[in-house]
Parts: sequence; C-alpha cells; structure tokens
Amino acid sequence: TGGNYTPQVHYAPPTGFMNDPNGLVFFDGEYHLYYQHNPSAATMGNVHWGHAVSPDLLNWQTLPTALFNTPAGQAFSGSAVVDQHNLSGLFQAQPDAGEQAGGIVAIYTRASATLQTQEIAASSDRGRSFVEYAHNPVLDIGSSQFRDPKVFWHAPEQCWIMVVVEARSHRVLFYGSVDLKSWDKRGEFADSGLLGIDYECPDLIRVPVENGGERWVLILSINPGGPLGGSAVQYFIGDFDGRQFTAEDRVTRLMDFGKDFYAFQSFSNHSGAPVGLAWLSNWQYANEVPASPSRGMMTLPRTLGLRRVGKDWRLVQQFVDLAPLAGKVLIDDTRPWGSATLATAALPAGEAIEVRLEVELQPGAVVTVRLSNQAGETLEAGFDAGPFGGLFIDRHGASGFEQRYFVDRFSYAFQPDTRTMDMHLVIDRSCLELLGAAGSAAGTALYYTKSPLERISVVAQGGNARLSKVFVTTLTSIPSAQAQPL
Ligand code: FRU
Repeated sequence: TGGNYTPQVHYAPPTGFMNDPNGLVFFDGEYHLYYQHNPSAATMGNVHWGHAVSPDLLNWQTLPTALFNTPAGQAFSGSAVVDQHNLSGLFQAQPDAGEQAGGIVAIYTRASATLQTQEIAASSDRGRSFVEYAHNPVLDIGSSQFRDPKVFWHAPEQCWIMVVVEARSHRVLFYGSVDLKSWDKRGEFADSGLLGIDYECPDLIRVPVENGGERWVLILSINPGGPLGGSAVQYFIGDFDGRQFTAEDRVTRLMDFGKDFYAFQSFSNHSGAPVGLAWLSNWQYANEVPASPSRGMMTLPRTLGLRRVGKDWRLVQQFVDLAPLAGKVLIDDTRPWGSATLATAALPAGEAIEVRLEVELQPGAVVTVRLSNQAGETLEAGFDAGPFGGLFIDRHGASGFEQRYFVDRFSYAFQPDTRTMDMHLVIDRSCLELLGAAGSAAGTALYYTKSPLERISVVAQGGNARLSKVFVTTLTSIPSAQAQPL
C-alpha cells in the first residue's frame, strides 16, 4: 500500500503532481473529482485535468486524463455542471431513442503565457472524455490573470452564473448565460477581505444555517499572501441577487486554521447541504514536500453549514459520513478526571485512523492527542485550556521534511473560559485533519515522519481532564492508495 507517505484515505493521484480540485460534480450515481494534474512530473506544470470517480465520496478510482495541455495553453482550474436539457446544444443525443439529452459540461481556464480565457467542453460518456467546444474560448477579456470559473444553475433567473476572478486586480466577477456559450457580465465583488497577491478559485454557494434558513457564502482563495504565509481560503457571508454579492459585514473569516487547505470547491448537482473538498497543500512548499510517489492530495470531503456565534458567524465543517471506511476499533471508552496518560493504544502500521474526543478540562490543562514512534518522533493535536490556548496542531516532532515555510504549529483561539471541547480527527500517512467545537474550527496539516507512527496516547498535562468520550478506530484504505510506480 505505497510508500510511507502515501495517504490511505485521502485521494492522491498515482503519479505526477496534483493541485486544485476541479469540476466536482455528481452525475448518474457517481461523484467526479477532476484535478489540476501534471502527469509527467511531480512538480507543478504541464497542467491537465486528472480524473477520479467515487460512489460514496470516499473510495476513489483513478480514470484517464479528462482535459489536456494543448498548444493553446494549459488546462487550468474550473468547474463542471450537468446540462441535463442540452441548453448548451453541445450534445447530439436523441432523446426519442431513449438517449439522455445532456451530460457534463466542464468550464475551465485555458492558460497560455500571455492570455487566460474561459473555455467549455462536453462529455457524452459520463465524464470519461470531453470534446472541446469548436468556438472556444467562450470568454476572453484579453487578460493574462483571468481564471478559475465556477458555474452554477441559478434557478430564480433560469440561467447559469459564472463566478470567476481577475486574480491580480482582486476582483470576483459574475457573468450570466443561458447556454454556457455566451456570457454577459453582471456584477463584481472587489478589493475585499485579504487581498494577497492573487484572488483564486472562487465559489458561491447557499449554505444552510443551523436553526433554520440559508445564506449565500462566497469562498475565495488567495495566494500568496495568506496570513500564515502562502495559500489560504477565506469566506464571506451575504446575499446574491443574481448580479451582485453583498457581504453582510466587513469581517474576513478563514476556512481553516492550518496551512494546508487551499482552492476549496463544492460539488455541483449535489442535493442537500453543500459538500466540497480542498487541495491539502500550500504553494510555499507544494513542489518540495516528499513525493509518495506523487505529490499532492485532497482533503476528505466536508459538509458545510453556518452557525451564529453571538454576533459572529462560523462556517461549520463536518467530514462526510466515514462509516464506509470503518475499520478496527482501538479505543472506545470514557475516562474519569485525571492527568498524565488517559488512554493509549498501539497503531497498526501505516493505517489511517479516526479519533473522536469529548473532553472537560480544569483551567490551564492541556489535552493532547499524541502519535509517536520509537525513533522519538511525534505528531500532536489537542486543546489547551490556558488563557491563550485553544485548539492546536503541532508537527514539530515529525522530522521527515524541513523547509523554512513548513512551520510547526497552528492554533485557533476560543473564549478564555472554554472548558469543554470536542475534537474529530482523521490522521493519515502524511496528513492530519482536525475539526473541533462541533465543526466550527478546522485545522489541516501535512506532516512527514522518518518512521511510521506506532502509538496513540491521549495525555493531560498542567491540570486534570476528563474524557466523556474517547474513540479511536482504523480506517480502511481506499483503492487509489494502492501505489503505482511513477
Ligand atoms: C490555484 C491555481 C489556480 C490556477 C491553477 C493552476 O492553486 O493557481 O488559480 O487555475 O492553480 O494549476
């Protein structure tokens, strides 16, 4: 099952280099994950759209390349929609003969050295292959920094909306179309939040609010210039009237407090609360981290909601149901008030694990989930009930990769009197995802140990803690984790 670093439950391509998720769409019983892919080297460049499909958002099977680097340019990021009624006219099927009228249309950026334009391509074979529209591009404003179209069907106006960025001038542009071919500019959202150097990979979705209702959320990646260095994803809550997005306040909120969560995109044609995933890396070191043998992986898919916290808002993220991957239970228990090691178990070599904790802490206590090996390496995450604490991830004890921007520790603050915390972690070979406080804080990080981690311990220090839940289980490896040579 691959090298030491090959993730077991996170999608990674068999070869090459992967960055942004693209064209996330549910169609005909399958979830499609396309992605920015260099099939010929494990560094960014020569960008194609790689492809994987899944019945359950967890088990991914890699399929052949879907869109190619052509003489016109590389196939940069974009999205996909189901054009069920052939509004685009790109499909030739004969509904009379019982054939499906429409299919998947991909909308993506064709990027040359001097020009970025929006193109479309149609698939009549359930997303396996695409035919580029003969009159591409469908949108050209003569810019070299115009990219990452995300398209959705806007039912109130019976039209498609494209959300796309003029990256370097920090504009999110909204276009409308009835056929995916001709696009009219409708409005823009500019110079807001963290600007960074480039705005990238926008997404605009309706997100259910806990306790009822829905709000529009504009998700926007920036790179470089994220607050932790490099790449980051921010979001805005507001209204969209089909033309303009109006944020309801001036607050900049980040989707993740770690450093390795970028280019989040939601699945199109998916009913219920939005589900999406992100690239689990950061441009500051994405080309340099150890290859496994490919470079790049995706986060687990997360379901999104919104929670009112006082006068503030929080995007709430939960892993999709992990039950299909359920493995062997290592710990399932409670622990009374105590300190030092509260629970511990050996880790089956190289397997991914899921951890759920519910903890109550005395003031100043710290509860740490610590993974370790005999070589003295550690990976930690936990909750610090000190006045300046909060949730944290600490990868400094993992010694397999060093680079000046691959920083060690990430944290997320809570009100100083917070004494109870829940944590939901998935820890895989070379990555960790932590969701805390019922999903209102998310932290995602790569890590690289020289030797596999062998033991998990839940430890209380600086005071007593009580575990009303401590649950640790292995997760079953997904098919794409079976290594293939470069
Ligand atoms: C974001 C990004 C996009 C671009 C793609 C190129 O990571 O820079 O803006 O379309 O990657 O691979």
